[in-house]
Amino acid sequence: MTTVRINASDAVSVETAALIIGVHTTPEGPRPAPGGEGLDQALDGRLAAILTTMGFAGKPEEVAKIPTFGALPAPVAVVVGLGDAPEGDYDPETLRRAAGAAVRSLAGTASAALALPARTAAEAEAVALGGLLGAYGFTRYRTTGDRKEPVGELAVLSGAAGAEEAVARAATLADAVTLVRDLVNTPPSDLWPARFAEIVQETGGGTGLSVEVLDEVALKEDGYGGIVGVGQGSVNPPRLVRVAYSHPEATKKVAFVGKGITFDSGGLSLKPAASMDWMKSDMGGAGAVFGALVAIARLGLPVNAVGYLCLAENMPSGSAQRPSDVLRTYSGKTVEVLDTDAEGRLVLVDGIARAIQDEPDVIIDVATLTGAQIVALGWRTAGVMSNDDALREEVVRIAGEQGEGAWGMPLPAELRKGLDSAVADIANLQPERWGSMLAAGIFLREFVPEGVRWAHIDMAGPAFNKGEPHGYTPKGGTGAITRTLVAVAEHYAGNGASTRTV
Ligand code: BES
Ligand code: MN
Ligand code: ZN
Repeated sequence: MTTVRINASDAVSVETAALIIGVHTTPEGPRPAPGGEGLDQALDGRLAAILTTMGFAGKPEEVAKIPTFGALPAPVAVVVGLGDAPEGDYDPETLRRAAGAAVRSLAGTASAALALPARTAAEAEAVALGGLLGAYGFTRYRTTGDRKEPVGELAVLSGAAGAEEAVARAATLADAVTLVRDLVNTPPSDLWPARFAEIVQETGGGTGLSVEVLDEVALKEDGYGGIVGVGQGSVNPPRLVRVAYSHPEATKKVAFVGKGITFDSGGLSLKPAASMDWMKSDMGGAGAVFGALVAIARLGLPVNAVGYLCLAENMPSGSAQRPSDVLRTYSGKTVEVLDTDAEGRLVLVDGIARAIQDEPDVIIDVATLTGAQIVALGWRTAGVMSNDDALREEVVRIAGEQGEGAWGMPLPAELRKGLDSAVADIANLQPERWGSMLAAGIFLREFVPEGVRWAHIDMAGPAFNKGEPHGYTPKGGTGAITRTLVAVAEHYAGNGASTRTV
């Protein structure tokens, strides 16, 4: 695990294996950003000439390495582009991405010092967070070849007031995201519902979270027909995990519900092979909810928060649910299962119905719910739907502030008719594919009573990066939406900065 600390020394004297500085594009060529001027001086003012010779312009996330040949203690300087210099403060996401890209390029290096702009606590936090997230690597299954360990120690060079606290906060957030990425990347042979629940109990206990687990017997007894139905085809039975955090001064309660399909084969409505090989990521919603609760507890936010992880493995077998089976969900409503691959909504409505009993001020569910989300919004932008316009915009704004792409989507009333069932209260599939992300949202809304504020985040694309790494985002599990949920909790805590315990 990568560690981070604040270091008040200047860029040219810091003892480190690699010195990272930022560079802006200007009409006159690349120019060092605040924090990076010392490198230019150490190189006798030739930094711009070196970079121009290399064709380095300073565009966002452009990365280049320069040997320093004894001009400073660090043998290598890493320059990372920051684009045009801002008029005032830096956009934190620019700093996070730059720090992430630079640190990511240093896998296999023992240490690095970040001399990126960190003149305020907020900038220092962004640099630390981006650096820690960019350092991520998932090497535990690699025994040979290019097993490069992530950078071990990061130093953020900053003398800003409050920088220590800001960097500690970044470390807490990065730890939570790392936890989620590890869970998503873990192969489903090593992460099945009961194992996931155990991990929550082991980790949660240490952070002051209270954890309750319902096993398959309890789920059946208590009437969680959705979770039971989805899980019944697997030799690894389902679980519902409740994770709760409370604070004595809290006045608000938030509830998060996560889709936790540890592997989605589609069930009897089997997926084609090409759509199945990354379905270990179908528990990313439950991962984000768990990670967020861990961070909320470690930050000591003055809010009450409860998370529900709806865990099941969706498999075909002689005991699997069949297309046309009817489930009785925890809410009491019945569902005709027309397609066993539309399983996420079945487990979620049980979690949502249970969360409603806690009487929270807001319920947010997070799910890798539909391929249609990726069709509509692509890999990096989650869809946000809600029964409350103001809540939807609040979630979109908060996600944007964390640099997590999210966009508001409608729940058009006319789509409800497509979910009519010939035999049950509702069907889990509409007959046509158009608007499937919204139809899934409409399905969920049917289980949310009037007066309950609820939002739904479909992050099928953002949860898992099938492409190349970028910024602080690695290949594979991304930990997307974890930080958004923490920020939502912070919002409901009234930004209780004074009670942070890190
Ligand atoms: N887990 C999938 C959705 C998904 C697709 C997540 C791609 C991540 C990447 C979900 O359970 C699913 O299979 N959805 C179906 C629903 C359909 C049968 C209505 C889909 O989107 O095709
Ligand atoms: Mn599915
Ligand atoms: Zn799924």
